[in-house]
Amino acid sequence: MAEKYIIKQSGALCGEIEIGGAKNAVLPVLAATILTGQKCRIQNVPNLSDVESMCVLLESLGGKRDWNKQKGTLDIDTSKLDCSDASYEIVGKLRASFLVLGPLLARLGRAKVSLPGGCAIGTRPVDLHLKGFVALGAKIDHSHGYVTVDAPKLVGAKVYLDFPSVGATENIIMAATLAEGQTILENCAVEPEIVDLANFLNAAGADIRGAGTDTIKINGVKELIGTVHSVIPDRIEAGTFMVAAAITRGDILLTNVLGDHVKPVIAKLKETNIIVEELDTGIRVRYEEGVDVVAADIKTLPYPGFPTDMQAQFMSLMATAKGTSIMTETVFENRFMQVGELKRMGADIKIESRSAVIEGVKRLAGTQVVASDLRAGAALVLAALRAEGTTEISGLHHIDRGYYHLDKQLNKLGANIKRVQA
Ligand code: UD1
Repeated sequence: MAEKYIIKQSGALCGEIEIGGAKNAVLPVLAATILTGQKCRIQNVPNLSDVESMCVLLESLGGKRDWNKQKGTLDIDTSKLDCSDASYEIVGKLRASFLVLGPLLARLGRAKVSLPGGCAIGTRPVDLHLKGFVALGAKIDHSHGYVTVDAPKLVGAKVYLDFPSVGATENIIMAATLAEGQTILENCAVEPEIVDLANFLNAAGADIRGAGTDTIKINGVKELIGTVHSVIPDRIEAGTFMVAAAITRGDILLTNVLGDHVKPVIAKLKETNIIVEELDTGIRVRYEEGVDVVAADIKTLPYPGFPTDMQAQFMSLMATAKGTSIMTETVFENRFMQVGELKRMGADIKIESRSAVIEGVKRLAGTQVVASDLRAGAALVLAALRAEGTTEISGLHHIDRGYYHLDKQLNKLGANIKRVQA
């Protein structure tokens, strides 16, 4: 049954919040367990529907899982994995399913995975993944909405990515891990989630150097073994709660967060006059009484630039800041899905090509809105905390993909959110 949030305007949110494991780190790590063919234990696993979808996918391939959601421990056993086909039914729910392509290719010599919905074959968004597999010796076939990669043997090669794609970097690293010889991946993504994946693989016996820089060298090994790995904290969940403190003019201490990973978000919050302190206990984000929250210009970029996954949430904050902000989205096309709904709440936003011009308004007003994707949904929740009256948000399945009980977590800090049948 579809559900919706009913959110009443909130005062300053105050208190402490513990950030969970990173969705975007755990998904590639789960795909990478395929390479080990043994039992792996993943810790600090967030209880999210995207993680559930990845487990269902691994099970459909012959893997087994035992997920202790209370402890955040997920055991994955891929010893009996024997299927190399990932169906549209599963891949359609989770774009990151495409990440099983590299590990399946390396382990079974073949993989057939449905193309993620809505993308043009050969161009975006998986051309860079495929370019890497071809360089390692794979043959590619596209038909009936599926891509099949075949390679009885993968051989290390030099691969230059035209754009530092996170998913392509992960997929190619995973395929190269068991290839013969050395792979050098240039202009690759440097996101913390790449480093986390490399740490997992190295603990399992891989030889990957340079993760976190734009050149990664992978010396192929014959096999990997099962290992235990704890996932890094979710920098986007952390950023979302930072904006919750800012937009409600509150005072929140975030624990289990790595300051280095949220640097661009901290820098921008400081520009708006929000106080951010990195303490031994965590990161404290607070409003200073009597000081205006002011506009800031933002351009999304690959890490360590401002994350595209924080663009929508920051737009809600800028919608209520003093002055005019320009937010430019350079990573994804068409990622201003939240704008129409924010405007219905009284925001003053104009889209000009890949930029949004946001004129801060004194007040937002609650109404009925729809979450169209994960981060757009989070942005609407944040705006609703500030909006006068009551906001109803539907499309919660998007929000559940990346936030565990967002309503309950915010309520602990003083929000008034009810989750009800739509
Ligand atoms: C990952 C994150 C996502 C985040 C994004 C950018 C996961 C599960 N998801 O997505 O939350 O927003 O990084 O930080 O980790 N592209 C191509 N060809 C390709 C691959 C990508 O043109 O073969 C383009 C995409 O269309 C997009 C850009 O590159 O415009 C960035 O995409 P990419 O870094 O691959 O993002 P994802 O890995 O899909």
